[in-house]
Amino acid sequence: MQKQPTAAIRPVFSNLQPQGISDISEYGAQFDDVIPMWFGESDLMTPEPPRRALIESLESGATFYQAQNGHTALREAIAEYDSRLHAKPIAVDRVTVTASGMTALHVALQMVVDAGDNVVLVTPIWPNAPAAVQIMGAEARRVSLRSQPDGRWRLDLDALFEACDARTRAIFVNSPNNPTGWMCSREEQQAILDFARQKGIWVIADEVYHRIVYDRETAPSFLDLAEPEDPVMAVNSFSKSWAMTGWRLGWLTAPPSVYETLGLLVQYTNSNSPEFIQAAGIAAIKECEPFVEEFRNYCAAGRGIVGDILGRVNRIHIAEPEAAFYAFFKVDGEPDSMALAKRLVREAKVGVAPGMSFGEESEGWLRLCFSQEPNLLRTGLQRMADALR
Ligand SMILES: Cc1ncc(COP(=O)(O)O)c(C=O)c1O
Repeated sequence: MQKQPTAAIRPVFSNLQPQGISDISEYGAQFDDVIPMWFGESDLMTPEPPRRALIESLESGATFYQAQNGHTALREAIAEYDSRLHAKPIAVDRVTVTASGMTALHVALQMVVDAGDNVVLVTPIWPNAPAAVQIMGAEARRVSLRSQPDGRWRLDLDALFEACDARTRAIFVNSPNNPTGWMCSREEQQAILDFARQKGIWVIADEVYHRIVYDRETAPSFLDLAEPEDPVMAVNSFSKSWAMTGWRLGWLTAPPSVYETLGLLVQYTNSNSPEFIQAAGIAAIKECEPFVEEFRNYCAAGRGIVGDILGRVNRIHIAEPEAAFYAFFKVDGEPDSMALAKRLVREAKVGVAPGMSFGEESEGWLRLCFSQEPNLLRTGLQRMADALR
């Protein structure tokens, strides 16, 4: 039983659910030799250029406070990178560096959401996004993608727009999506942007998997469509494409008119990201394009292995994801995803995330990250297939 604090904490915390992914990994820590596929991260180590840049930066004495919106050199590198990859150029006064994609999301929400407001989220979704909305004292309104008979996912735009009301401050779209791998199409993005412009609400676009796509160079992005002053904020991160989850570095691309407010929000949150971490970010952007390509191939190989092994198990309903590095699947006769994830830890020694983490609509599903060393991945999936046959 958790001890009650002697002084009050905000009521929102009584409704804040455990994240589920942390719970299953803590459960798994009791067992030896579990192959971990539960987290949203690859087993590849961060490439050499950012590691080297961090050491050089530290050795040169970069241990001081930094500008609140981020180091100019990193903001310039990001603006150049974003301009190269999007249909419209991104000016440097749209870029604010944050201590992770998660922090970018918090800062974006803090700027636009008050207690009593709501944010409409396309789900299933990474649990941290609705939790961040709830922490603001706002309502996280969920509009679920529909699973099609062919295993693809479809967004119901009418349902999305109908969920918005006078207290809606933002529509949150994570595409490519964690956990489903769904990508919001250019036409859907245009319709959402038109709606947001008309209603005067924000689009918060979580595009941390922008580069992890298999049939094209980059996923469709709201930044391809938005004019600088459109109500669009795009969350991005060094965690995924550059295998830098532990570094905690991300950025927010937003209209120039909110640049100063975002700087204040960073100032009053963690003040700035460390200079040596930002130096690593510059090296990642400038020197790691070959790694991003290799990384995508590594994920593509993992995706193929999942199809070969889990695709042959009758009880498992799985489709090839279009993007990101997750397999998201349903197992016949297994309605309780946490119970199943625990059984897989005990019996198959594999760690997967329970679907309930991604919302009630995903109960009965499991998610695994396939950006893993191929032999280890094969072993893990084979053990899982044997346990579920
Ligand atoms: C959809 C999505 N957005 C944002 C993040 C946050 O990434 P980070 O806080 O590591 O930058 C994650 C991490 O799993 C994610 O899956």
